Amino acid sequence: MESHWWREAAIYQIYVRSFADSDGDGEGDLAGICQKLPHLAELGVDAIWLTPFYVSPLADGGYDVADYRDVDPRFGTLEDFDTLLASAHELGIRVIIDVVPNHTSSAHRWFREAVAAEPGSPERSRYLFRDGRGPDGSEPPNNWTSIFGGPAWTRLKSSDGVPEQWYLHLFDSEQPDLDWTNPEVHEEFEDVLRFWLDRGVDGFRIDVAHGMVKAPELPDVAEGTEAGMLDGQHELPYFDQDGVHEIYRRWRRITDSYEGDRALVAEAWVEDADRIARYLRPDELHQAFNFEYLTAAWDATRLREVVDTSLAANGAVGAATTWVLSNHDVVRHVTRFGGGEQGLRRARAGTLFMLALPGSAYLYQGEELGLPEVTDLPEEALQDPTWERSGRTDRGRDGCRVPLPWEGGSSPFGFGPEGTTPWLPMPEAYGPLSRESQRGVEGSTLEMYTRALRLRGELAALGDGTMEWLESPEGVLYFDRGSGIRCAVNTTGAAVELPESGEVLVASGPGVFAGERLTLPGETAVWLRV
Ligand code: GLC
Repeated sequence: MESHWWREAAIYQIYVRSFADSDGDGEGDLAGICQKLPHLAELGVDAIWLTPFYVSPLADGGYDVADYRDVDPRFGTLEDFDTLLASAHELGIRVIIDVVPNHTSSAHRWFREAVAAEPGSPERSRYLFRDGRGPDGSEPPNNWTSIFGGPAWTRLKSSDGVPEQWYLHLFDSEQPDLDWTNPEVHEEFEDVLRFWLDRGVDGFRIDVAHGMVKAPELPDVAEGTEAGMLDGQHELPYFDQDGVHEIYRRWRRITDSYEGDRALVAEAWVEDADRIARYLRPDELHQAFNFEYLTAAWDATRLREVVDTSLAANGAVGAATTWVLSNHDVVRHVTRFGGGEQGLRRARAGTLFMLALPGSAYLYQGEELGLPEVTDLPEEALQDPTWERSGRTDRGRDGCRVPLPWEGGSSPFGFGPEGTTPWLPMPEAYGPLSRESQRGVEGSTLEMYTRALRLRGELAALGDGTMEWLESPEGVLYFDRGSGIRCAVNTTGAAVELPESGEVLVASGPGVFAGERLTLPGETAVWLRV
């Protein structure tokens, strides 16, 4: 098997707006990331993935791009980007950036031109404009709904107020979907990829990678099909259509034509591991996020099943499996696993489990501090479009996007210079969780991550490779990674004993006892050398 850095990398996701604010405007920026890079090197990550920092009205936190080849002034400049990239590379950290090809911002030049042009014009043909249904066209062209709630169509009005065509947006109305049957759209994105590859990026995370191609004629969604994140997706006429694969074959030829080892990573919320593996065939993408793993409950049988199906499906196409527990779209795993002390205990054990599995792992900023979801943001602070589009019933994803606490006892906790008002309020409870409060503190979440990541780098058995399940009591996940390296995770609430013991390399919590036999407290994981 050829070796590629991404096959075993620990990749740290930076939500740019919330990582570090160098200029005190309340939003993170590229210069802020640059200043903090040594901390990431100390943490031991192999790569960072930057969420969109491009010119954007931030209707969806930057996933609404108005210019794919420039940095939004609030995040910095292209020069800042080049500096960040060079500094990261000097520290041995690779850099992946986001590409958002399913839709642009409605502020993008193309969309403004489309609105100004006539129905049927070349300008409109870059997007999905359609006439409405019904005698006066006042019904949307089909029954699709937006992932953020409400209809997936918005009707244009001409300058004199006369209603005219509708345009499709699977997300917010400020995120019009592109028409990928138009060759100009292909050419544009291939050029955007080259623009950033030429600057030296190590790869791309592809936003909504399963969404760009829609079923011809845009048919109605069948009655009763759930449009949830992972349910019944291949029955939806706008997700996981076969045509997307041709796009990725073309993209792969581009990345292959560059020096170095550039990676393409799919964000594709596709339910079934075998369907996901189709994105990872040898001439397509290198990796896909493993959302089946992310959404698995804290249950040993379920976790084992997901690990097995993931490894089998990825192995069948020669791809390395990925693992992920948190990102900027989901409730942080401390909270998902129950919150409070128990949530944190499980989250830490879950992380050690993940980092011991074969393949690469995606970490989301703040999980190394054990940050919980912020669930009590005041309504007036909420910015996720989901809030308004759901008729204020779904609070959306802001709770996992609160800026990071670096140091100090009060807001902005070192996120920005003294006096900065962070774009989302930071809770007081962040003080004891700051990086400074945990650094060098035995037993802290930060120290556990740092130790585990260092071991992953040192021990050849970890990262890429194989695993073998070992016999274990009910509720315990126990497996071997070769060279005497093993991982045991007790998912139950009560202590268990394992027949064998060994040297404890890292533990997710206190109370592990390695005598003749190994005593593993409830909701605790260890790495062992036997
Ligand atoms: C992806 C992003 C999410 C964004 C959506 C629309 O799912 O991760 O944050 O809202 O795409 O671009």
